Amino acid sequence: MASRLLLSSLLFLLISHTTASPPLHSKLKEKQSHLHFFFHDILSGRNATAVPVTKPAAGAHPNSGFGMIAIIDDLLTEGPDRNSTLLGRAQGLYAATGQEEVSLLMTMNLAFTSGKYNGSVLSLLGRNQPLHPVREMPIVGGTGLFRFARGYALARTHWLDLTTGDATVEYDVHVIHY
Ligand SMILES: *[C@@H]1O[C@H](CO)[C@@H](O)[C@H](O)[C@H]1NC(C)=O
Ligand SMILES: *[C@@H]1O[C@H](CO)[C@@H](O)[C@H](O)[C@H]1NC(C)=O
Ligand SMILES: *[C@@H]1O[C@H](CO)[C@@H](O)[C@H](O)[C@H]1NC(C)=O
Repeated sequence: MASRLLLSSLLFLLISHTTASPPLHSKLKEKQSHLHFFFHDILSGRNATAVPVTKPAAGAHPNSGFGMIAIIDDLLTEGPDRNSTLLGRAQGLYAATGQEEVSLLMTMNLAFTSGKYNGSVLSLLGRNQPLHPVREMPIVGGTGLFRFARGYALARTHWLDLTTGDATVEYDVHVIHY
């Protein structure tokens, strides 16, 4: 009996505690930020930053690459030149998940290393059809200055070498954070 009483008062405390707490971000001011950078996906040469770790599945449509997964540590720069100011790196992986056309599942952390966002990260998870002119992908969270981040990224191919797959992609990222 005593233990049941203890349990119910504990439960009451737990419930009243969780309902009484205001949302963590309620006192913080909402900010909206726009980030613009270029993403360099380099598969060829000695300085490759994207490494396929699986081959397309046997029998996959030749233009789909279905089954291929690449691990990336791609540079994010201010300008379209790979040697322009480094803003951060896109670390993660993409997987060819379309059977009929190239359609990538992108899961990557945009880890910023310069300016006020140095040390802050945005996490992106989305669908990328790289041969389409504009792709939209959700930003699902973040750390540091990007805590509670939500938003979207628009990706446009700036340059693509169809033989090697090397590409420079322009990113516009819009996020709400606190
Ligand atoms: C590869 O990286 C090294 C070291 O950063 C650099 O010296 C070299 O020029 C790069 N090679 C190419 C082909 O970009
Ligand atoms: C970047 O610089 C390296 C070394 O200076 C050079 O080899 C490479 O061609 C440059 N890359 C671009 C895209 O200009
Ligand atoms: C970014 O932060 C790291 C760790 O605090 C620091 O070592 C580095 O110098 C900073 N980079 C820039 C460009 O501010």
